[in-house]
Amino acid sequence: MLISIFSPKGGVGKTTIALALAESLSKKHRVVALELDFSPGDFVSLLPSIDPKKNILTYKHDILSAVQKPHGKDFDVIVGGYPGEHEHITREDIKRCIEILKFKYEYVICDIQPGIVELVLDVLQQSDKVLVVAEENFITPVARINAVLDWISVNNLSDLKNFVFVRNKVTNRELVYIDKIKHSMKLVHDVPFYKKFKGYDDKKLQKNIKKLAGVLKNGTFGENKKFWFFRRIFSKSYL
Ligand SMILES: Nc1ncnc2c1ncn2[C@@H]1O[C@H](COP(=O)(O)OP(=O)(O)OP(=O)(O)O)[C@@H](O)[C@H]1O
Ligand SMILES: [Mg+2]
Repeated sequence: MLISIFSPKGGVGKTTIALALAESLSKKHRVVALELDFSPGDFVSLLPSIDPKKNILTYKHDILSAVQKPHGKDFDVIVGGYPGEHEHITREDIKRCIEILKFKYEYVICDIQPGIVELVLDVLQQSDKVLVVAEENFITPVARINAVLDWISVNNLSDLKNFVFVRNKVTNRELVYIDKIKHSMKLVHDVPFYKKFKGYDDKKLQKNIKKLAGVLKNGTFGENKKFWFFRRIFSKSYL
């Protein structure tokens, strides 16, 4: 199963949620976290035992050789590359790499860069689920998501039916901006804002992300219309 974590806005928690999900799912499943972020991404700084030179670009023709296991972790990772370098990897390369990874792993968790390029659209299209991370304490992250989803759907670039929302850094139980978005995607999960936050393997976050992992495993996304209805009624006691 390919699960992409995406948001056109930077700093909303894509990498945190991607690695937290990888950590959670890896307790019982074969998991690889794939960094498709050439901004560059943060895998190397968050996972200190990882070699940045052993990345998706250097091993695009032999992707399994790019697989690394972070020290003390049960999940594998593949790191991205540096800015501009994504031009050295073709859409066919990425497609092939993902096919191979999907064959070897039960879950491929893809941390996607905020900047949309063709290969990002391809991966979104190939994904079984796209978790769109929204931080809705400010209007700008949600407004940007709205604009990008609009552009994606108007240009028929991806089928939005596999896209769902995950709210991160939630401080307000009420829905502020998300329910005003014109694309009626399901909101499947909330991650609270943690004051003393220790990162993706923070115990409090892990407890929370276990629920998201459960939803992904059980494929209960289809039930969310009901869930959505009730959560709007009971939103005050939701968190
Ligand atoms: N639920 C949370 N509570 C508190 N802090 C959080 C939470 N989620 C993420 N953070 C913090 O927010 C910052 C940005 O998170 P992260 O790097 O995961 O975002 P990102 O979307 O991957 O950013 P970028 O677009 O730069 O790749 C980090 O310092 C992270 O520790
Ligand atoms: Mg990131």
